[in-house]
Amino acid sequence: MQFIDLVGAVSAVRHSHEIVVSASLDHIDFVAPVHVGDLLILKASVNRAFRTSMEVGVRAMVEDALGQTLRHVATAYVTYVAVDREGNRVPVPCVVPETEHQKRRYDDAARRREMRAGETQRKKELRAKLGAGWHV
Ligand SMILES: CC(C)(COP(=O)(O)OP(=O)(O)OC[C@H]1O[C@@H](n2cnc3c(N)ncnc32)[C@H](O)[C@@H]1OP(=O)(O)O)[C@@H](O)C(=O)NCCC(=O)NCCS
Repeated sequence: MQFIDLVGAVSAVRHSHEIVVSASLDHIDFVAPVHVGDLLILKASVNRAFRTSMEVGVRAMVEDALGQTLRHVATAYVTYVAVDREGNRVPVPCVVPETEHQKRRYDDAARRREMRAGETQRKKELRAKLGAGWHV
């Protein structure tokens, strides 16, 4: 999961050319195990940029020792927010999808954003209720 966050952040920084913070990891599927010694390959793409946030899809795969097979082990969607050195949110450039695959990911990202909006609001209200030193 640490690698997923790291690779996703690299992708978001390359897209935005800004500092980014991880806002949420809202979905992760582990579809197969990764064993000690496995060669892990991670691929990330910015599915869509909104105003200051970007949804990045990260796909983790394992390559066999001879480099002949690639096995999909996990997929995650991480949202990063671009910030300046003072921590203020900054706008990010749009993603312009070109291929069918990119267009599908672009549309799906908007659907996922809608789904997570309620949850984000709920967390904000909880934080406000509990004050600065919130622990949940
Ligand atoms: C992420 C963070 C900057 C958002 O701050 P905030 O005050 O909630 O920001 P805003 O309400 O102004 O929203 C800014 C953007 O973040 C998005 N956002 C905020 N919380 C989010 C969440 N939980 N999931 C997804 N997106 C989120 C908003 O949708 C908005 O996107 P948009 O500008 O593209 O429309 C702030 O919560 C933060 O600094 N969190 C800690 C980050 C961190 O330390 N990460 C490392 C953890 S290991």
